[in-house]
Amino acid sequence: MPQAFKDLFSSLPSEEDWITASFRLYQGFWLSPRLFKGILTCQNHFQAHPSDILLVTSPKSGTTWLKAILFALLNRAKYSDSVSQQRHPLLTQNSHDLVPFLELNLYLGQENPDLTAIASPRLFATHMPYSLLPQSVRDSNCKLVYLCRNPKDTFVSTWHFANRMRPEEKGQIPIQEGLDKFCRGVSVCGPYWDHVLGYHKASLDMPEKVLFMMYEQMRVDPHVHVRRLADFLGCPFSKEELRDGTVEGILKMCSFDNMSALEVNKRGKLWTGAETKWFFRRGEAGDWVNYMSSEMGERIDGVMEEKLRGSGLKL
Ligand code: A3P
Repeated sequence: MPQAFKDLFSSLPSEEDWITASFRLYQGFWLSPRLFKGILTCQNHFQAHPSDILLVTSPKSGTTWLKAILFALLNRAKYSDSVSQQRHPLLTQNSHDLVPFLELNLYLGQENPDLTAIASPRLFATHMPYSLLPQSVRDSNCKLVYLCRNPKDTFVSTWHFANRMRPEEKGQIPIQEGLDKFCRGVSVCGPYWDHVLGYHKASLDMPEKVLFMMYEQMRVDPHVHVRRLADFLGCPFSKEELRDGTVEGILKMCSFDNMSALEVNKRGKLWTGAETKWFFRRGEAGDWVNYMSSEMGERIDGVMEEKLRGSGLKL
């Protein structure tokens, strides 16, 4: 990390994170050293194009799934017949390798990654809170798709993932300790509620620029929401595509059952060291009841009610 970043980082309020390092509170959000470095570098160097598409999530909200759907949606013309479908990149590559994070891949160790080979529209992902986005993203006409997930399921998914990422000698993080952190806002790019609220407000203020989607609604009626996504991105499905089952094909390809059974997602590894199978745990809405008591659930509900009051958003 450049010395100036290091000095700034070490001057910020800190908290132990969920895995091994410590978070720092930067402009209202908890960031790991890697995120801090990646976000600041990206803020200073990334130039958004008007045709860019950014998928934004709070971690464990279904990023892996929506990365796959967006990739399949935008590249559908290339893989429309049965022969080309057999060589669809999603069959052999994890969606995190196909859709890079700005701050966690592209701008993590370099100021000027070579983006020239990426075809337009460029598809990127980020966990950055709205207020920390590079100015060029906010100023340009690029589009943002925000995927939000029920906070109790997001918390349980985060807890499981953190336990997998923790070194063995540290043992599991007790769920109560994780809950306490989550409810105090201490999670990656948290507070969770401020992350969601930033994009929810932006979607109300600029509906043509920011689409706010819910994981649970996608699970219930994926067909409707994938069409909504295509309309928002300016690449609606044609009558022929609707007739010939293109939407169903994308959903089948990106379904939890299909993706989690692929060799690349059963035995692969990402650049972070995480195993690809860790990104496919249950993929269900409401799984929190299997890990949390009703009192624990009520604690999250209480925090959400207080923090989201007046926003028109109910989670
Ligand atoms: P669970 O831990 O509740 O199972 P992220 O991709 O943001 O890290 O989020 C991971 C969560 O999305 C995990 O939730 C994972 O199982 C779920 N997920 C991954 N692929 C999915 C898919 N194709 N459909 C639905 N959920 C999926």
